[in-house]
Amino acid sequence: MDTRFANRMSVMKPSSIRELLKMTDRPDIISFAGGLPAPELFPVEDIKLAAERVLVECGSKAFQYGITEGILPLREQISRDMKTRGIDCAKDEILITTGSQQGLDLLGKIFLDPGDVILTENPTYLAAIQAFQCFQANFCPVPTDDNGIIPEAVDDLAAKRKVRFLYVISNFQNPTGRTLNLERRKKLAEIAERRNLVIIEDDPYGRLRYRGDHLPPIKSFDSSGHVVYLSTFSKTVAPGFRTGWIVASRDILDKLVVAKQAADLHTSSFDQLVLERYLRDFDNHAHVERVRKAYGERYTVMDESLERHMPQGFSWTRPEGGMFLWVSGPHGFDTYAIFRKAIENKVAFVPGADFFPGGGGHNNMRLNFSNADPANIRTGIARLAEICSSALTEEEAKDPA
Ligand SMILES: Cc1ncc(COP(=O)(O)O)c(C=O)c1O
Repeated sequence: MDTRFANRMSVMKPSSIRELLKMTDRPDIISFAGGLPAPELFPVEDIKLAAERVLVECGSKAFQYGITEGILPLREQISRDMKTRGIDCAKDEILITTGSQQGLDLLGKIFLDPGDVILTENPTYLAAIQAFQCFQANFCPVPTDDNGIIPEAVDDLAAKRKVRFLYVISNFQNPTGRTLNLERRKKLAEIAERRNLVIIEDDPYGRLRYRGDHLPPIKSFDSSGHVVYLSTFSKTVAPGFRTGWIVASRDILDKLVVAKQAADLHTSSFDQLVLERYLRDFDNHAHVERVRKAYGERYTVMDESLERHMPQGFSWTRPEGGMFLWVSGPHGFDTYAIFRKAIENKVAFVPGADFFPGGGGHNNMRLNFSNADPANIRTGIARLAEICSSALTEEEAKDPA
């Protein structure tokens, strides 16, 4: 071990696939690998006007230090938006963060000591694993099915050991695209209160629903302050703003504010002002509607292409929103093994194993459908299916039984 570095760096392993994923940026590769929104849909013209207005009206004030909690008018807008999602929160129960990713880091800081146990879905968001690994957490993956994490399993695990928190992505989960059903949301809120268990509900994708009805967040059933809710403007406006937020009870929020002061004092004043002005002066609902329509169409093209081309033995999730679907191959299939071949054939995905904090999951892959146009989705899926078919045939030739 290199003694120059802190002990925690020995558990913060770089993802084995990260180097390979760098290749997916090549323009000749059709990439379903990244988690990127479609840049051609960013509301650039409206943002430009909003930025001009901020510069003309605020001048140098737009570049001054601000308060850690975030600018008040933005928190007021978020508070109003939260009501439409079913969460009644005051502006001082909201902290603006530098993306939801910083929210995860701050939550790790205030809740985790080395060795603490946390519960997660299985699989779960890769960068949340990385964020919590930084605090040397012990991951306890909870059984999860098509309707999300299984509350009875959460209840059992929380009864048996001291658990710091449960981390859950309630809508169109990254990586599987699955959504936690209504009954389970209520049940988790009830377990949180009964077991004194903190739930971190991460919801970057809730606004990107293409089919079915909006489901109230777990936080909307929380009457005891155990649920901490995170969301972001990354998917509904643009990720470059690096602006997200946390809704939490005041005692938790006070601790988060102290942690954020130490991290970055506050999220960029200019970014917050431009975002606030954009949301005030322009029709973000119409923008999100356009995004939903485009992603919904891309999802349908991907689903139909998979249906047409994938060999027998493969199945995939059928998310009602978000940006990802999750393909599972037959038992024993290894998506790492076909990754290099896929790159040679100019198509990319993320092998599933990295999303499983407890190991396993090699037969899965995550596909992003928001960042490729329909024609490329058709071509890319045909290539991917071909690679999967020939890998299966090679396997069968090796082991005819
Ligand atoms: C589940 C989940 N949480 C958090 C984030 C981070 O979002 P942000 O851009 O707000 O940092 C992402 C980004 O893809 C995500 O998928």
